[in-house]
This record gives sequence, structure tokens and C-alpha cells, in this order.
Amino acid sequence: MQYDVIIPAAGSGKRMGADRNKLLLELSGKPVLIHTLEVFEKDDACRRILLAIKEEERQELESLLHHYAITKVTKLLTGGSERQYSVKSCLFESDLSELVLVHDGARPFIHTETIHKLVQQARVSGAAVAGVKVKDTLKRVEGSTIVETVDRESMVAIQTPQAFQTKLLQKAHEVAAADHFLGTDESMLVERIGTAVSVVEASYDNIKLTTPEDLLFGEAILRYRAQEG
Ligand code: CTP
Ligand code: MG
Repeated sequence: MQYDVIIPAAGSGKRMGADRNKLLLELSGKPVLIHTLEVFEKDDACRRILLAIKEEERQELESLLHHYAITKVTKLLTGGSERQYSVKSCLFESDLSELVLVHDGARPFIHTETIHKLVQQARVSGAAVAGVKVKDTLKRVEGSTIVETVDRESMVAIQTPQAFQTKLLQKAHEVAAADHFLGTDESMLVERIGTAVSVVEASYDNIKLTTPEDLLFGEAILRYRAQEG
């Protein structure tokens, strides 16, 4: 089934501590965002890509899209001050597919197989998000003192992509806006309107490039994949 993907790319990458948007930093000589876009460019099930950007980066991004022959980005929309607003800026475009994915520009290692599992699940249940089992022991703390150990078996670390029937995600965003609710992912917005969200098991290498050492992990993932072919 065909889908459209919304890619929020309008952040500033503060935790990366670089002198510019982390999505413009290069991994193996190619900007992070281009790595991400290429996954969707190559996936036949992806109909189009809606990109939320910062206005001051428009020109640079347009020339990168041209240089790397990314053809599915039909529109660069102006993002907002929070990730949720950036996603929303793309979500009410006309002529969206029945299914929409939201995927962070900062997760360039997503596997097409995971995308397709999410699309399939969202088609059936309305909402599906990528997640992995937690490996570390989790404890709740107050200040620097442990209050309790959390049962790890019931914990999942949630990633993107997150896939939704488009009308459901639009509704969830409208309700969140009316309530002035700000979530850290789309799933939260859908959960709070009472819709069940399925989790699809994804991969540990679907990391979000967030802090400087993630660039080292990212280079290692690319090197490994190049060796494996
Ligand atoms: N994003 C966005 N609009 C914002 C904030 C974030 O489109 N106002 C995007 C980022 O560009 C990124 C994704 O949302 O692709 C996930 O956000 P995050 O990893 O937090 O990136 P930044 O917000 O850029 O980084 P930081 O929080 O460290 O500043
Ligand atoms: Mg952020």
C-alpha cells in the first residue's frame, strides 16, 4: 500500500553541539538528511515526501535535493518552534495519501522492511510505531536517588517511523492543538484521544543522531553495511 511520509527537519540540533543543523552534517561524505531521504526515494511504496524545514535553510536544502536527485520531495514547508508544530505544518496539505508516516530526519538508518511492516499494521489497526526492547535496567529516580526499579519486560523504547491513517493523525493533532498539549511523538497525541497504537519491532541500528558520539556510531553502521553489501 502506498503512503506519504512527513519528515520533520526543522530542528537546530542543540544537543549535537555543532555550528549548524545536525541534519546538514555529513556521514561518509553525504548529509544526514540525504541518507534519510534516500531510503524513501528508493521505496516504491512511498508516494511523496513532505519536508518541514527552517526557512533560512531552504536554499541550501533545495540545492542538496537537486544535487542528490531526490525527486519525491514535492514541497518544503516551514516548520515550527517545536517538532510537533513542524509535523503539523505538513499534515494538512491537500491530497495526502490515506496512510501517512512520520519519520525523523535524524534517523537515517531505517530499514525498508520496518517501514513496510508499519504500513501494513497501520492499515489494519490505524496506528503503528517502531520500537525496540529496552536493554538496560531501568530505574526511576528522584534527583540522583533511586526510587524503584522498573519492570523492563513491559518497556519498549519508541522510535520513528510512526504510521497512521491520515484522518486519525489529523484529528489527534487538532485535539492536541485545542488542548495546548505538546507531545514528544505523534503516538502520544493519538494515545490521548483513546486510540490503541500498535508497536512493531524495529532494529537497534535505527538510532537517532542526537549527541556527538552518535556520529561515530553512524559511521560504523554505514561501514558495516558497505561491507555486508
Ligand atoms: N524537528 C523539527 N522541528 C523542530 C524540532 C525538531 O522538525 N522544531 C526535527 C529535527 O530536525 C529532527 C527531528 O525533529 O529531525 C527529531 O528531533 P531532535 O532529534 O530533537 O532534533 P533537534 O530538535 O534538531 O535536536 P535538539 O533537540 O538536540 O536541539
Ligand atoms: Mg529536539
